[in-house]
Amino acid sequence: MTTDPAITAHYAQANLAEKILTALNATGKNMHRLVHDDLAAADEFHIGGRVATHHLMTYLQWHAEMHVLDVGSGLGGAARFVAENTRCRVTGLDLIPDYCAAAASLTVATGLQQYIIYKQGDATAMPFAAEEFDGAYSIHTAMNIADKATLYSEIAKVLKPGAFFGLFDVLRGRNEAAPSFPVPWANAPETSFLATLEDMRRYLGEAGFEILVEDDMGGFALKSLKKLQEANPIFGPRIVIGENYDEKIANLVRNIESKRCAPWVIICRKRKTWEDQQR
Ligand SMILES: C[S@@+](CC[C@H](N)C(=O)[O-])C[C@H]1O[C@@H](n2cnc3c(N)ncnc32)[C@H](O)[C@@H]1O
Repeated sequence: MTTDPAITAHYAQANLAEKILTALNATGKNMHRLVHDDLAAADEFHIGGRVATHHLMTYLQWHAEMHVLDVGSGLGGAARFVAENTRCRVTGLDLIPDYCAAAASLTVATGLQQYIIYKQGDATAMPFAAEEFDGAYSIHTAMNIADKATLYSEIAKVLKPGAFFGLFDVLRGRNEAAPSFPVPWANAPETSFLATLEDMRRYLGEAGFEILVEDDMGGFALKSLKKLQEANPIFGPRIVIGENYDEKIANLVRNIESKRCAPWVIICRKRKTWEDQQR
């Protein structure tokens, strides 16, 4: 385990599902027939929210016979989107017990509990068997993980040969100056670990992945963050991000504009054989 207690302290928050459902209720929503889309403005804890999740998943061919791992599943927004749209089984792994509990409650509230389970654990010490999953994805999780070599080799270990792995993360940009803090995933540099695109190619390659797609999400990220600032919705990421919300979003915008941060989607595939791995 390599996890800093400051990361747990950053995210831990009791009764998150209740907070989200109470805030949704206050918008006048009929709470008796909730569907996963009703929660999307608040339960997707990453740049671009549901739109970004949809974009990532268009690269990944999940289907009903598969069992897919969500690494750092947070409140379960992406897991519910995947389950609803593909009917595959999803296991969400997250470090924070409060998030696992909230994700499970929100999944019951939207009637998707037969497809998804959430497990508390550290992605750098996967609590799963080798080759257990048919695919995996991870959204805005690796930014809190210093030991990326172990992270990606653990993900590779629990995937079947040939399985797809897709990620959407904030990387270090071309500008080597330090990012401004706080940002949504960290209050200070001590809990933020951003890899460059070159680092990512090395980590993923060494873990046994072949990169298929590198998708620069910088333009999309700026547009969607500025739209969020303008709209400033009551039912939105403010509920989960809480303290210093405006400052965190403004810093993220500045970091991306100045190329100190760079959001990327990367799609890769676990190599199938030993010979394949040597390519
Ligand atoms: C910014 S949130 C993103 C959550 C979710 N993927 C989403 O996009 O809505 C980062 C998540 O990564 C989780 N996380 C951070 N370090 C982790 C680790 N070592 N193992 C598992 N989860 C971790 C946090 O608990 C948090 O839920």
